[in-house]
Amino acid sequence: LPDGQALTPPMGFNNWNSTHCRAEFNETMIKGIADLFVARGLRDAGYQYVNIDDCWALPSRASNGDLVPDPARFPSGVKALADYVHSKGLKFGIYTSAGTKTCDTLGFPGGLGHEQQDANLFASWGVDYLKYDNCNNQGVDARARYRAMHDALVRTGRPIVLSICEWGENRPWLWAAGTGHLWRTTGDISDSWSSMLGIFKQNAALAGYAGPGRWNDPDMLEVGNGGMTDTEYRSHFSLWAMMAAPLLIGSDLRTATPATLSILTNRDLIAVDQDALGRAGRVVRASGGVHVLSRPLANGDVAVALFNENAAAATISTDLREVGLGAGTYSVRDLWTGSVDTTASSVSAPVPGHGTVVYRLSRLSTPSAPPAGVTPLSDLVEL
Ligand code: DGJ
Repeated sequence: LPDGQALTPPMGFNNWNSTHCRAEFNETMIKGIADLFVARGLRDAGYQYVNIDDCWALPSRASNGDLVPDPARFPSGVKALADYVHSKGLKFGIYTSAGTKTCDTLGFPGGLGHEQQDANLFASWGVDYLKYDNCNNQGVDARARYRAMHDALVRTGRPIVLSICEWGENRPWLWAAGTGHLWRTTGDISDSWSSMLGIFKQNAALAGYAGPGRWNDPDMLEVGNGGMTDTEYRSHFSLWAMMAAPLLIGSDLRTATPATLSILTNRDLIAVDQDALGRAGRVVRASGGVHVLSRPLANGDVAVALFNENAAAATISTDLREVGLGAGTYSVRDLWTGSVDTTASSVSAPVPGHGTVVYRLSRLSTPSAPPAGVTPLSDLVEL
């Protein structure tokens, strides 16, 4: 949406991938995450939204039609939780479905037909972000369902980021940029290599549709949930940053390992994800399980990812032309190790199985640059 929100992909936390609807999803957990965002430097690294997912409400609306927070999970209520999150200098997000019920089998009330009442309630609680799911949609046209919530949110007068969670079913990249700020492009991620890989391949092909205020959403991060190796989680994080994906942490940070925290707080990768130009990286070559991605950045640099889908280590090479750069000498900074090299032609790295090397290339000089004050020949002569 061209309303000045989500000019870079949203960054934050959502409990779903780590808890689903289990009882540990509650007020204590969410406050603990907000505390850790501050204490462990995640807020300073750019993580902003603390979002709650399905199962926060009671199965029935109140007699006035309002949604009611489940007092077993949220004894202080959602308004108090949002206030707490705000007191930490963070933003608060909530969830419901563009259907008669949410997705969980217990069947919590959805927003279809209740858009304005629910939007008003969320705004009164201080909600900053709404994830709007797709279950139990009664076959009503997706554009109309998401449009109705968009309009309701606008009428509240409160800026609220709208996350369109319809799983790519109605090709939202073709229409949702005027309705929400991000749209899911795929089904749900799970904490496995094959799930992450499949989603990457689907989402990467949609790079051209992303931009400031309108992001492809390949679903939330699984980094730290235990089903992949740290090398695989580094690939997951690298690819999401290259694709300008929302970075929503999906693991319980209260039990995060040092490796998990260091992946999630890699400032150089976050800078790629959050680059102001907002152009998603493109796959410039993919064959035999080797993928080269290139992403132009606002200051003229280019981020390059060398991704090895295969289990065996491989040397992956590319060159300036393939990643879209002109002739010149470039510094080549490895965004995982921090090591710096230079090149005037090729870029190459040994990449472990399931690994990703990400470089940031910055121009050092142009071989044909004339000395200052000298008019380039090409400006004088029609060549
Ligand atoms: C489906 C969504 O895609 C998930 O991210 C999650 O929100 C669940 N629904 C909750 O039921």
